[in-house]
Amino acid sequence: MGSGLGRMRGRKYFSASGKKTLRFRPSHFVSTQPKTKKTKTKPTVPVRWRQEVERILITDEQLAKRIKILAREIEKDFRGREMVVVSLLSGTVMFLADLIRHLNLPLRLDFIGVSSYGLGTESGELVFTKELRLDVRGRDVLLVDDILDTGKTMSRVLPKLELLKPRRIKTCVLLDKPARRTFDIEADFVGFEIPDLFVVGYGLDFAERYRNLPFVGVLHPHIYKEVIQRVIQK
Ligand code: PRP
Repeated sequence: MGSGLGRMRGRKYFSASGKKTLRFRPSHFVSTQPKTKKTKTKPTVPVRWRQEVERILITDEQLAKRIKILAREIEKDFRGREMVVVSLLSGTVMFLADLIRHLNLPLRLDFIGVSSYGLGTESGELVFTKELRLDVRGRDVLLVDDILDTGKTMSRVLPKLELLKPRRIKTCVLLDKPARRTFDIEADFVGFEIPDLFVVGYGLDFAERYRNLPFVGVLHPHIYKEVIQRVIQK
């Protein structure tokens, strides 16, 4: 059966929030509350991280709320089936833990290790560091990743999974950065659509750091510029 390698691009998103920096999928907009003027203050970066993180893009509260909704959407899609969750290491660590604890379905969990070794913020050559161990033949698979950026990782992993003959594969990413896409691919379930900013935290790293931040933040450009400069000078 198969997934058809994710969905082709061009599906329309709705931007009912009017926010230009962060877009949520339609289900996130449904509100029965009357519109009132909100005077929410901007979340502030904890002092410890202020030198490195410019601002918070998605707070821990927004993450928790959205992930619960995502889990419900996935549940609806997989109801009546035993699913195999295949998660890509290592960026999914926090997202995965929060997502699966809200999935009220029988599931089995396995990991594929895949990393791109590139310069600074650019994704480079893909290296597989861990293969799948569970048998997914005839199973319903949910492939989970933290971010869909150029689409290279998904485009390499999906055909590999297809060879194992699952019944179907659905893809789920916490973040989608369509502005950077070079491979024609879309995820079936998306937490947040984000603009082209270098984000870290909640599992996402820069040079293996910042994965432990409880929020998704925008990295100060001086941090990655310094590292790139150092690599170039070597
Ligand atoms: C990151 C991220 C995605 C991939 C997305 O992985 O976790 O898997 O890049 O980028 P793409 O759409 O351009 O392929 P990375 O190789 O940095 O490994 P990590 O998960 O260990 O951080």
